[in-house]
Amino acid sequence: MADAPYTRTNPFPGKLIVNRSLCGEGSDKDTRHFEIDLTGWGLNYEVGDSMTVWATNDPALVDEIIKAICAKGDEPVKGPKGETTLREALLRDCRITQTTPKFLKMITERASAAPLLTELLDPKRKEDLDRYLWGMEVIDFLMEHPSIKISPQEFVDVLAKLQPRLYSISSSLKAHPEQVHFTIDVVHYTSHGRKRGGVCSTFLAERAENVPIPVFPNTSKFRLPEDGNTPIIMVGPGTGVAPFRAYLQERKAVGAKGKNWLFFGSQKASCNYFYKEEFDQLTSEGVLTKLDCAFSRDQAHKVYVQDRMMESAAEIWKWMDGEGAHFFVCGDARRMAKDVDAALRKIVQEQGGKDVDAANESVEKLKSDKRYKRDVY
Ligand SMILES: Cc1cc2nc3c(=O)[nH]c(=O)nc-3n(C[C@H](O)[C@H](O)[C@H](O)COP(=O)(O)OP(=O)(O)OC[C@H]3O[C@@H](n4cnc5c(N)ncnc54)[C@H](O)[C@@H]3O)c2cc1C
Ligand SMILES: NC(=O)c1ccc[n+]([C@@H]2O[C@H](COP(=O)([O-])OP(=O)(O)OC[C@H]3O[C@@H](n4cnc5c(N)ncnc54)[C@H](OP(=O)(O)O)[C@@H]3O)[C@@H](O)[C@H]2O)c1
Repeated sequence: MADAPYTRTNPFPGKLIVNRSLCGEGSDKDTRHFEIDLTGWGLNYEVGDSMTVWATNDPALVDEIIKAICAKGDEPVKGPKGETTLREALLRDCRITQTTPKFLKMITERASAAPLLTELLDPKRKEDLDRYLWGMEVIDFLMEHPSIKISPQEFVDVLAKLQPRLYSISSSLKAHPEQVHFTIDVVHYTSHGRKRGGVCSTFLAERAENVPIPVFPNTSKFRLPEDGNTPIIMVGPGTGVAPFRAYLQERKAVGAKGKNWLFFGSQKASCNYFYKEEFDQLTSEGVLTKLDCAFSRDQAHKVYVQDRMMESAAEIWKWMDGEGAHFFVCGDARRMAKDVDAALRKIVQEQGGKDVDAANESVEKLKSDKRYKRDVY
């Protein structure tokens, strides 16, 4: 990285230059492509790295909270990042959506009646508490208990510090110098009759125009093989496609000769085929050797990337066993990465003629040889 005054504690003020929907009409998702200008930084990130982004909270929600605690906003407070005003602390420094144990305890102590919450704070009821809190935010408790008296300082003291978010980098500096691109699923949902938004994804989608976007890179081991001749297989459904867009840009820019096979999955081909034109272009240029898509909601039954993998099991095995390909997975950790892992083990077992133990051993060896890498969240 170039000599620069920028660090994790003094991140670079990026500038939003593109905020474009990747979804068409009829989409249930709001997945967006962002481009951030980094001119003047001299930053050197690698494809496969992610970027830390520091967002600010929604000012409308901040105003609502200030009103709910009968404050004005200009009161001086000591927040998690030092002396400031209540409004600034709530905008920049404090987590104002999800609650904290200290906040919930304060509610039980100061509300005229919160018997259910008091019961659920018993450590033995942790699971019930988590279920009760799903979709409930700080503002819901403040609205439900308007009798609560709390000073601005006491309020800030029961909140947690606002944490930055990580995003996979979806561009290569060789293709887009002094820029970083992201592919982000903007979090929107409704709970308890109120529309909610994810802090950082809605900051970028709705509130980041003409304001500095503090960013700093996060180095990862999710790197392309050093030898550009090595074939790669990339499995990236949804936003998991992000680092693979960067890999393809990089391999094209350096003229790498290795074959590139992408498994992409999303809901509907008509409105969720992210980067279709770019992938078509890369295919016609011979950079993207193979592209297999799984559109899960285009037929009565679900079709996922691992189904496409099983359809091409023999060829995956040929690339992996015969040609030394590296296998990459990015995206959802909860279900997709586990199912893709199971599919890979099945392919190794069936195509390699191994029993379960030997197949598992081979997959573990792929991992230790750094030929099977995952970046899942
Ligand atoms: C290494 C890494 C790379 C990543 N790369 C990407 C990427 O490339 N693209 C990308 O989009 N994301 C990526 N993420 C995820 C990203 O960091 C954020 O977690 C994500 O954008 C949500 O952040 P947010 O601030 O918008 O939402 P938050 O404010 O954090 O809100 C999300 C929270 O809202 C709550 N919630 C969400 N939906 C519901 C619901 N229906 N009902 C009730 N509560 C709900 C849950 O508590 C959830 O945890 C990555 C994460 C990691 C760790
Ligand atoms: N930490 C966060 O806050 C955060 C942020 C972004 C994403 N995520 C997680 O990542 C998930 C993916 O989000 P996304 O927007 O990138 O993608 P997505 O659009 O929700 O999913 C991409 C594709 O993967 C499919 N899919 C669902 N389950 C699968 C499985 N077990 N195996 C393989 N494919 C599967 C989906 O199908 P169907 O939907 O039709 O079943 C869809 O076609 C989210 O649901 C969430 O769990 C978390």
